[in-house]
Amino acid sequence: MAEAAGGQPALLADRLGFTWPTGHRALNHCSFSIPRPGLWMLVGGNGCGKSTLLRLIAGLLEPSEGQLQRPLKPALVFQNPDHQLLLPSCGSDIELSLPSHLPSSERLERVTHALQQVGLGGFRQRPIHSLSGGQKQRLAIAGALASDAQLLLLDEPTALLDETSQQEVINLIHQLCHRGEQPITALWITHRLEELNWCDGAALMERGSIGPWQAGTTLQNQLRPLATRKG
Ligand SMILES: Nc1ncnc2c1ncn2[C@@H]1O[C@H](COP(=O)(O)OP(=O)(O)OP(=O)(O)O)[C@@H](O)[C@H]1O
Ligand SMILES: [Mg+2]
Repeated sequence: MAEAAGGQPALLADRLGFTWPTGHRALNHCSFSIPRPGLWMLVGGNGCGKSTLLRLIAGLLEPSEGQLQRPLKPALVFQNPDHQLLLPSCGSDIELSLPSHLPSSERLERVTHALQQVGLGGFRQRPIHSLSGGQKQRLAIAGALASDAQLLLLDEPTALLDETSQQEVINLIHQLCHRGEQPITALWITHRLEELNWCDGAALMERGSIGPWQAGTTLQNQLRPLATRKG
């Protein structure tokens, strides 16, 4: 697979290992690279290490073994936006994510731009409690963009959303990953196989390590019979 412009991958993990203090080994010889910006999806059963991996990439945990090369600034987006939206209004919450020491005129401009990017233009003064689940998730993404993150780590971002909001969030991330100027890189965890239709590559995680990137539809065809059998 081709590498990013300049030859540097967007992320490189080399034989990562991670053991929780309980002694549980959550990551085991986990090696993979994200070759270029785009929407990259990870699928895997409960407890196989997906969220642990995102926490390592975000810098919240240190690997016990192996190496991580992460040239892009990361930001995590959780399944439940209520866990990351802290302030009462949309604008004030995004302000929290801005780099410090910006003059107030620029702060306002950056907040307005971040809201526009996620389809929430005009929502600066809206109370967060008045937003729908999908709007809250898009606001969480706006916060990540305002922090200048170029690597979005999305941990089942649509699991709590209805079909319409799910599609809005996928469309948004897909568009951010494929825009002409400064496309972002997204690593997206999902249990919803239909979402694999939108990715640039999909990989299966099992027992703490990740298989090769495949076309989303190839992994879908491989996993669908298993999902149907379980249901
Ligand atoms: N704080 C913790 N302390 C100890 N063990 C943990 C902790 N967090 C997770 N684990 C264990 O690490 C393993 C991997 O957990 P992780 O949350 O990464 O799985 P996951 O693939 O994200 O699962 P799911 O699909 O259910 O979200 C599990 O066995 C889990 O019990
Ligand atoms: Mg998880």
